[in-house]
Amino acid sequence: MHNKIATAAELLRSGGTVAFPTETVYGLGADISIPSAVAQIFKIKQRPTDHPLIVHFSDTSQLQHWAQEIPDSAWKLAEHFWPGPLTLILRRSNRIPTSVTGGQDTVGLRIPNHPVALDLLKTLGTNTAIAAPSANRFGRISPTTAAHVHNTLGKTVDMILDGGACNIGLESTIVSFNNDTPTILRPGGIPLDALAKVLNGQIILANKNNATERTPGTHASHYAPTTPLETHPPEHIHQRALELTAQGLRTVIITRLERMSNQPTNENIVIFSMPHEPTAYGKELYAALHQFDHKEFDRLLIETPPNNTNWLTINDRLQRASLL
Ligand code: TXA
Ligand code: MG
Repeated sequence: MHNKIATAAELLRSGGTVAFPTETVYGLGADISIPSAVAQIFKIKQRPTDHPLIVHFSDTSQLQHWAQEIPDSAWKLAEHFWPGPLTLILRRSNRIPTSVTGGQDTVGLRIPNHPVALDLLKTLGTNTAIAAPSANRFGRISPTTAAHVHNTLGKTVDMILDGGACNIGLESTIVSFNNDTPTILRPGGIPLDALAKVLNGQIILANKNNATERTPGTHASHYAPTTPLETHPPEHIHQRALELTAQGLRTVIITRLERMSNQPTNENIVIFSMPHEPTAYGKELYAALHQFDHKEFDRLLIETPPNNTNWLTINDRLQRASLL
């Protein structure tokens, strides 16, 4: 792996793109100081150029290098949760080109907690930062294995570093400091109560309906599989599957309950069991969506998870992925 990381670092230094594992999802990396490399990310992802990228680096002490006017609350979160699944939106320093921030004066910054990502970033050195959005096409499901990246981006990327399946499997929590109170723009790998504890309760969840910042919430279909997805409560999901199959549609039911096995079924329904508990479920969700997101199925039905904070991130992603 060490040789591969050296090769990846060399590719990044010469303006190439490298997909690499993080603890959340795989990122598609480019050196922020090389405009053609950053442009390549937008091209590969087919992502609008006003949609900002997250910038990754390796050492909290470098935060001032990439951001300015850093509030105490941001330092507290950085010191407590980095390396980890947390992205801080801060005023950018002049070292961050606006091509990376979608023209905005703020930048999303994160130190990932994955040995391959950290090794790569450290090899590049403290004066280098890597823009890395999730390594998927714009609006689609993030990859949690190297195979997912390979299947969707394939040869358009110069190199894919394989670090196995991502441990968390859902994207980082994004916190903005643009308002008086730190605001969660995207729930993610860090639980809400863990953030609240470090900030003595001084953190709020953004209201998706009046989002003013360019986050995934402002896009109708983010994190969506190409096969239409619906969520239904456990007591209705089976009936819905029977309705769909009566129309000739091949349907997958993604469930957390073993009792589904004694429900009526037919040859056009596939039942897939997910872990019962949210951490394990989160780790497997995107892999399950990738697995069934192809032409063999016409509809994915997912059992609505419990409506409590332990399931906040999963509910958020399922809402964005489902038919509106
Ligand atoms: O877990 C993650 O965060 C992964 C891994 C690879 O680090 N990255 C990721 O990046 O999810 P991406 O680009 O797929 O999603 C980042 C989101 C974008 O939707 C973007 O709108 C938001 O972060 N974002 C980035 N910079 C921002 C900024 N300056 N202001 C508001 N939102 C920002
Ligand atoms: Mg993404």
